[in-house]
Amino acid sequence: MSGELVELAKRRGFFFQSSEAYGGVAGFYTYGPQGATLKQKIEDRWRERFSTKEGHTEISAPTVMPEPVFEASGHLEGFSDMLVECPECGESHRADHLIEDNTGIEEAEGLPIPEVEMLVEEHDLRCPSCDAALAGEEVEDFNLMFETSIGPGSGQPGYLRPETAQGIFVEFPRLKEYAREQLPFGVTQIGPAYRNEISPRHALLRTREFTQAELELFVDPETDEPDVSKVADVELTLYPADEQGEHDDPEEGYVRTTAGEAAGDLVESWVCYHLGLAKQWFERVGFDMERFRFRQHQAGERAHYAEDCWDAEAEVDGDWIEIAGFAYRGDYDLSKHGEHSEENFTVFKQYDEPKRVERATVDPDMSYLGPEFGGQAQEVADALERLAERDRSAFEGEEVTVSVDTDEGTSSSPQSSTEDGEGYTIPVEKTGFRVEEVTESGTHITPHVIEPSFGVDRVVYTVLAHAYDTDEVGGEERSVLRLDPEVAPTFVGVFPLMDKDGLGERARELTEELRETGFEVAYDDSGNIGRRYRRQDEVGTPFCVTVDYESLEEDPETVTLRERDSTDQVRVPTDELADTLAALRAG
Ligand code: GAP
Repeated sequence: MSGELVELAKRRGFFFQSSEAYGGVAGFYTYGPQGATLKQKIEDRWRERFSTKEGHTEISAPTVMPEPVFEASGHLEGFSDMLVECPECGESHRADHLIEDNTGIEEAEGLPIPEVEMLVEEHDLRCPSCDAALAGEEVEDFNLMFETSIGPGSGQPGYLRPETAQGIFVEFPRLKEYAREQLPFGVTQIGPAYRNEISPRHALLRTREFTQAELELFVDPETDEPDVSKVADVELTLYPADEQGEHDDPEEGYVRTTAGEAAGDLVESWVCYHLGLAKQWFERVGFDMERFRFRQHQAGERAHYAEDCWDAEAEVDGDWIEIAGFAYRGDYDLSKHGEHSEENFTVFKQYDEPKRVERATVDPDMSYLGPEFGGQAQEVADALERLAERDRSAFEGEEVTVSVDTDEGTSSSPQSSTEDGEGYTIPVEKTGFRVEEVTESGTHITPHVIEPSFGVDRVVYTVLAHAYDTDEVGGEERSVLRLDPEVAPTFVGVFPLMDKDGLGERARELTEELRETGFEVAYDDSGNIGRRYRRQDEVGTPFCVTVDYESLEEDPETVTLRERDSTDQVRVPTDELADTLAALRAG
């Protein structure tokens, strides 16, 4: 089916390989007129559900970000896939995909490289392009980020963001101010993300530039709870990690329950709340719920930042495809950006009542530090202060040792020296260390993050795949996209039976009127009426209006209104047409 759908998408202006005039390049697609509108409508529906209705705010950050962002986020170190190169034709392949496709061993992605090399050898895996043996070839980690250089000359290293999320995390110090440090608050973003995928495949499903719609929800893990009652009755099909691989038929591992029952038990409450919202949303944009499930990640499969993750998966062309991920990211991202940037990525949490608390402080003897420590006295004092906050036990002996990083500011450590810093050993009484009781009105906490992350292109493809159907009309086979009127790119086709005797003129007037009212209208007067219906069926237009001779003769004037799926037709007075269509759109 995927071949037919991709062919229809190309022919009818949904999507096609980009830069085809120059041979194209794998993993990049252009949305045509129908596809761009469909994608836009899906994004609008997402924004309405996951941003506006939840009271969150949306931002739009740059797609190029400097290297330190990705050092902090862990993407420089850990955002890679396993690559094996064919010794004969030089094609690169994802080793884990080859294993999964040829051996049925799932989740090879989480295995260490030597095990992956062994599997390639044991199963005598071959290059899908030229059939050469891959056994004995080295499998290596390939970082998926596109690197660039910012500014002229050698410039500053930068990367195209591999997830929109980082654009939200790095702005947290400003965003928390905007939210007046009141948790919980959510920030959303819809925009492009880039990954230099080793083997882009399956049309829009694995590309090198794609659109993500992400929500980063910042919560206080100790006190904030979602209002699960809003989704309590939503039915979920859950596929927990410990059921996977246990049954030949995945159906046997499914837990069918409600969001209300699963929250806080099978699924973390915030994550579960969003699974409930998402299930309703996917249904609304036209996913077939018989081919939909939520699958929990197994431990080895989780991203470097995720404590737990559930994927929304849809069956497309016989395979289960990840469409969205719902990750509990804990305080990973904010803590890392706080450490690396030395900016404040915490929020101030006010206590209900002021509290007496113990606080460790240092007031080092600067006269002692002064001459002996030369230009680094202040750095040593700062390092002592940080150590006092972090590890009081370091002050329990007679001496305390801190190290001062000579290149990159200061660091403190109970060890006597560090590889790249200079260690100073100081008598404890000279550090001015003491523990005192103070009254605090609140404390700084690092919020935890819950992240629903949707791949918009995968949503678009699945909407099309689940809507695609063939049937017979008037003895002829037709292809039809049974798109939900909410997302159909064209809402109504308007045709004159023929472009003569004033029929064409009247149909063009009606087209203008309906467009003014806000409907997406396709006017078509070419070919016989059956062919025009077929064209609209193929792009999923839910309704068609035909102006015929009866229209001109009748008083009040009427037109035929045809419904796509049933092909039933009724006559509707023209002056009621816009209201009738609006009611049909509202469902
Ligand atoms: N911020 C979290 C994050 O990026 P992810 O699971 O790596 O998580 C989120 O990506 C979603 O982005 C996926 O569920 C998928 O729908 C989409 N996605 C990821 N890689 C993609 C690719 N190469 N092509 C199309 N969509 C992709």
